[in-house]
Amino acid sequence: MYTDTIIEHFVNPRNLGELPDADGIGQMGDPSCGDFIRGYIKVKDGKLEKVNFLVQGCPAAIATASIMTELACGKTITEGLALTDEDVLDAIGILPEEKVHCSNLGTSALHLAIEDYLRRLWKRGGRNR
Ligand code: FES
Repeated sequence: MYTDTIIEHFVNPRNLGELPDADGIGQMGDPSCGDFIRGYIKVKDGKLEKVNFLVQGCPAAIATASIMTELACGKTITEGLALTDEDVLDAIGILPEEKVHCSNLGTSALHLAIEDYLRRLWKRGGRNR
């Protein structure tokens, strides 16, 4: 059902956990009533220096969020916003059709975290880190 890549990232998720000093946070879903993901980003010199996540969901959601963080780390803000669900699926290889929606959680949380970062930046008057 799952590829070796999915199983490996599920068993050993990368970049799991809060970033207490995050520059942006984005959340999809509600932890009190079901699946959710929270993405955290740390930005340095216009690039995503750190991308972390917390997730409550199935193995596919955990593994694809882990893969998303590996794809996003080191990218510019613009490149992070351009990262798509298809990019994550391409990195996995194949995912059961009924699990494809789970793989979309990671990129959505990333995009919301970047939006949060840009909102904070705008409030500070546009000073970049
Ligand atoms: Fe709900 Fe995968 S996150 S089924």
